[in-house]
Amino acid sequence: MWQFHNPVNVIFGQGAITALTEQINGRSFALVTYDHPYFASLAVGIRESHSGCRVVLNQVSENPDISDMATICAAFSPYAAEVEVLVALGGGSVIDATKALAVAKTEPNHIRAVLTQGEKIIGTPLPIIAVPTTTGTGSEVTSWATIWDTSAGRKYSLVHPHLYPEVAICDPQLTYQLPVSLTIQTGLDALSHALESLWNKHRNPLSTQYAKRAIRLILKVLPKLKCEPTDSLLREQMMTASLLAGLAFSNTKTSIAHNISYAITIETGLAHGIACSFTLPAIVRSFANDDSDIADSLRSLFGTDLTDAACELEGWLAALGVATEPQCYGYSEERWQILVNDALSGERGKNFAGNSTTLLQSF
Ligand SMILES: [Fe+2]
Repeated sequence: MWQFHNPVNVIFGQGAITALTEQINGRSFALVTYDHPYFASLAVGIRESHSGCRVVLNQVSENPDISDMATICAAFSPYAAEVEVLVALGGGSVIDATKALAVAKTEPNHIRAVLTQGEKIIGTPLPIIAVPTTTGTGSEVTSWATIWDTSAGRKYSLVHPHLYPEVAICDPQLTYQLPVSLTIQTGLDALSHALESLWNKHRNPLSTQYAKRAIRLILKVLPKLKCEPTDSLLREQMMTASLLAGLAFSNTKTSIAHNISYAITIETGLAHGIACSFTLPAIVRSFANDDSDIADSLRSLFGTDLTDAACELEGWLAALGVATEPQCYGYSEERWQILVNDALSGERGKNFAGNSTTLLQSF
C-alpha cells in the first residue's frame, strides 16, 4: 500500500502572477521578498495593485539563518495583528524564511526553540501564498523549510502540515531575469530533488513518475537554457521540471546527496545546488550492478549501462561548469569517506534505498 499526498493548489503559466489578486481574495498580507532592485520593483507593483499589502519584508538572506529571524519578526510585529496571509515572492530562501515567519510570527525565540530544542509549534502557522522566482527549490509544494545556524555549524528542518503553501503561483516570466549562474544552480537542485526521490525508501509510483519526467526535462533543457537564458519556452519547461521534482520529493523528502551537501555548504559555503548535485553521478554508478526497481528507473532514463551513464552525467555537469571530484571542493579521499559515512547515518541519508557500501566505493 502507498499514499501520495500534496494539498497545494498549483496555478501555472506565463502571466500566472495575475492570479495573485484572486488568491489573496481581499485579505491583508505581508509580502516577503529579497532586498534587491528587481524584487523591489515587483513589490512596488504588487503593493500598488493590492490595498491589502500591510508591509514588505525584505530582510531575507541567502540560506536563511536562525539569527535572521529576530530582524524579520521585529519588522513584522507592528503589522502582525492585521496580517491574514503571507505572500512569499522569491526563491527557496524567501519561501523557507516565510515558512519560518509563519511559525514564529512575532516570537523569534519560539522558532529557535522549535528548531534547536524540538519544541512543539504553538498555534497554527499563518497561511502562505508561494510565488517562486527560481526553478529549483520545490519549496512552493512542500511542507518543510531549511533553516541554517551558521554559527553553530548546523542545518535544521522545519516541518509542519500547515507549511504547505495554500497555493503556488508558478509564472515562468518571473524567471526571465534569473542570472545564468543561478539558473544552473537552482536547476541542478531540482535535478537532485528528482533523483533523490527516485533512490528513496519513501518512493511510490507517483513520486517516481513525477521524478522521471522532471529528470528528462532537466537533462534536455538546462544546457540549452545556459546558452539561451531568455528563451520563454525553455524557461517554462524548466519551471515545469522544477515543479514536478518538487511534487516528487514532497512525498519522499531528499536523501544522501542532500545529506552530503549540508556538511559541504556549512564547511565551505558552496552553493546548495552545486553541493547537492556534484555527487549525483557517483550515486548513479552505485546502482550499476543492481537489479532493483530503482536501477530499472535509472536505466530507463540513462541507458542500460549505469557506469557509462555516470560518466555521461559527469560530462553533462562538466559542460555546466560543475566538477564532480570531491577533491575539487577541498576534500581528501580520507576526509570524503568520513563525510559520506556520516551523511549515510544522517536524517536524510537514512532515506537512501541503495547499498551504502557500494556507494562508498563509487566515488
Ligand atoms: Fe535542495
